[in-house]
Amino acid sequence: MRNKVTIVGAGNVGATAAHWLAAEELADIVLVDIVEGIPQGKALDLLQSMPVEKSDVSITGSNGYEPTAGSDIVVITAGFPRKPGMSRDDLVRANAEIVGKATEEVVKYSPDCILIIVTNPLDAMCEVARRVSGFPRERILGMAGVLDSARFSTFVAMELGVSVENVHTFVLGGHGDQMVPLPRYSTVAGIPIPELLDKAVIDRLVERTAKGGGEIVSLLKAGSAYYAPGRSIMEMAEAILKDKHKILPCAAYLQGEYDLKDLFIGVPCRLGAKGLEKIYEINLTAEEKAALHKSAEAVESLVKALP
Ligand code: NAI
Ligand code: 2OP
Repeated sequence: MRNKVTIVGAGNVGATAAHWLAAEELADIVLVDIVEGIPQGKALDLLQSMPVEKSDVSITGSNGYEPTAGSDIVVITAGFPRKPGMSRDDLVRANAEIVGKATEEVVKYSPDCILIIVTNPLDAMCEVARRVSGFPRERILGMAGVLDSARFSTFVAMELGVSVENVHTFVLGGHGDQMVPLPRYSTVAGIPIPELLDKAVIDRLVERTAKGGGEIVSLLKAGSAYYAPGRSIMEMAEAILKDKHKILPCAAYLQGEYDLKDLFIGVPCRLGAKGLEKIYEINLTAEEKAALHKSAEAVESLVKALP
């Protein structure tokens, strides 16, 4: 029997994640959205690409949650983008309501699932899912670090003119301008990037990474990134579905690690069939640790704005 993945929110990110998952034949997929016809139409269109792709997964769309029953993973991408005139706190409240309702529904039908939260503001929405689901931290993860690290890797590969396959970067912290790219732990063919690039160049790439989401928004004008986010969701889902014990930067609920407690923030996590298997506490310099704590303060202020 194939695994089952539900994706709530059949918009740009949700549908793109479904595309990657289906193309890799990783799971049967259920797309859920409030807009009538959208999840059904996108599911059918994707399904009709499967004979060409040679993938036998089933893909269905629904406006209700019954068809999601028994999902192994539920990805939540439902939400609003920030609109003109909307404060950050307004967005937190609006998306908290959507994520809270979606979580309530999905856990009713899939009480043993692993939740991957994507809706922004990411780290605060993970906290909403935790409160509503009551799940242990092993089964609630946020997607941001894989995307942010992929952006950093892209810029490093472009700068050095090397294959992206040679580049491994690590970005920790909350998913916002205060995220913490870690050049010391980022390598090209095993060589730490401070050996290959000047500090000024690294600083420029770090800055571009931290503002990576905004760069895409300013180009697209309406909407935000979805190809790289969709692929990053698949990376996490694949690690879980294939029980890969893979280390990826994910938002996880800290319980004292990095001297932070009771909040979600991006840290190196090992993912396997049970979800979060282990959080790695790596040595940070005083400067790196201060940056992580500053990023945690930004997350805490969003969590305080939750209804
Ligand atoms: P989108 O607007 O294309 O899609 C959102 C979908 O959610 C829409 O189809 C909408 O109808 C649906 N929706 C709204 N309320 C719903 C509800 N109550 N139940 C079910 N579906 C509902 O937006 P996009 O580009 O797909 O982004 C989705 C979210 O992901 C946003 O919050 C965005 O900021 C976030 N995001 C997070 C990233 C990360 O790294 N964590 C990366 C990219 C996007
Ligand atoms: C991004 O980083 C909007 O969070 C989204 O592209």
